[in-house]
Amino acid sequence: MSELHLLFPTAAQVAAECPAPVYLAQRHYLIDGELCHWPGELADVFSPVQIRDDSTGNIEPARLGATPLLDSAAALKALDAAVRAYDLGRGEWPTMPLLQRIRHVEQFLAAMAEKRAAVVQLLMWEIGKNAADAAKEFDRTCDYIRDTIQALKQQDRAASHFITEQGVLGKIRRVPLGVALCMGPFNYPLNETFTTLIPALMMGNTVVFKPAKYGVLLIEPLLQAFRQCFPAGVINVIYGRGRETVGALMQSGNVDVLAFIGTNKGASDLKRLHPKPHRLKAVLGLDAKNPAIVLPCADLQATAKEVIAGALAFNGQRCTALKIIFVPRRQASALLPLLAAQIDALKLAMPWQADAQITPLPEPGKTDAMAALIADARDHGAQVVNCGGGNFAGSLMRPALIYPVSPKMRLYQEEQFGPLVPVVPYDDINEVVHYVIRSNFGQQLSIFGTDGRAIGPLVDIFANQVGRININSQCQRSPDSFPFTGRKDSAEGTLSVQDALHQFSIPTLVATKGNEAGIHLVRNMVQQRDSAFLATDFLF
Ligand code: G3H
Repeated sequence: MSELHLLFPTAAQVAAECPAPVYLAQRHYLIDGELCHWPGELADVFSPVQIRDDSTGNIEPARLGATPLLDSAAALKALDAAVRAYDLGRGEWPTMPLLQRIRHVEQFLAAMAEKRAAVVQLLMWEIGKNAADAAKEFDRTCDYIRDTIQALKQQDRAASHFITEQGVLGKIRRVPLGVALCMGPFNYPLNETFTTLIPALMMGNTVVFKPAKYGVLLIEPLLQAFRQCFPAGVINVIYGRGRETVGALMQSGNVDVLAFIGTNKGASDLKRLHPKPHRLKAVLGLDAKNPAIVLPCADLQATAKEVIAGALAFNGQRCTALKIIFVPRRQASALLPLLAAQIDALKLAMPWQADAQITPLPEPGKTDAMAALIADARDHGAQVVNCGGGNFAGSLMRPALIYPVSPKMRLYQEEQFGPLVPVVPYDDINEVVHYVIRSNFGQQLSIFGTDGRAIGPLVDIFANQVGRININSQCQRSPDSFPFTGRKDSAEGTLSVQDALHQFSIPTLVATKGNEAGIHLVRNMVQQRDSAFLATDFLF
């Protein structure tokens, strides 16, 4: 039995260290303010954590529960509920005064906070996120909701006044778009989903929400809170196979906004199903292959530390992870041992164990897929540089540092989304510039160096290629007040706290002639509070 095998716990160890969540065969889902019962087929939910049989040594994924495999008819009922609640913009939710809408969200936030322990435990067991990062994901999401409330108030304050321009008296407010379909990714099944779901709701849209493919049970503790804190039909939560459920929703033509974090192929397939593409707004977070570009002037020790943190946090399963490392050929022999040492220092462990950094991977067959990428790189002349890199047992893999990676290898272009660190030697920086310009992706990149004269011109070149350039720092989404975006196949739209409110709304203008009669009429309407749109209240 390998040393990696032995890292998986026995049932007795689990019971002593971190009992698994109580098995849940979930049959309920949320439509129109009701928790409906699903009598049909269920989808099993397995943990990436495998349990070791003490006597045989076999490892088997822990079974955590099951979720409803809804069919297209059930999914369409959820959409109908959202369509009714929106009522072509005349529903209670889209016309509700902003402060009241905010009260609903605050109520939800308070109810959600009570479920912290349950959700954090499920984040560890369902997707293998370590305890610290699971707690961080939950807390960051709560902060995001609070910040969104503040941003919305600020937006409303800025919109409360009238403007006059060229003799026209006007007032501009942002209003909702309609029904939003929100789907998040398995690596941030709470946070990333809520960064679209919450702004969509707060702007007055109604929502159908389908949880990610893994990290799905962790939404269950929040279903009651959704039900109790929002009017019926405003938020509907469905489960099931994407093809059957989401496909039907898109084909109906009743989805106004598609908020999707996943692959660009998945997004294209969904968009194509909509019968009126120009009526569909898409907010997409997609694939990325963010490069780290190490310059000859880089501080190699500091660079190695930051590169490995950026490449391997949560096992490399972040859209923002550094997924290809470019190194001057002359410095490769100095940098590779530093990178290998950083990898060796990472602790492989179960998510709840102290200081766990590399944990089991939730996608079935993922370690085999990673091994195939390594084999392809080896076939084309690369080697695994770190000791034991790429060894795996079940769902747990020791990260692999792979060198020299070249354009012939799959790892050069493909997004690995896992614990592989491909390093490409370069002789001329133009090779790297060419790679970035020709890449299908354009989310972020990192430049490592100390000479401003070398870094500055690259910043100017790359500013038109990617959504964020990080200097001596890994790629990342945070802080959430910064724009999070990408070009080409990496994203559509921009998500910061402020930008997300814009993505799920459209500016609408009320205008009249700025003459005496126009002013008189508008003044009366404001004073008599005839229109919520025209109100000039300051939101405290
Ligand atoms: O997976 C994509 C996430 O948005 C990355 O967020 O950079 O905060 O880990 P992060």
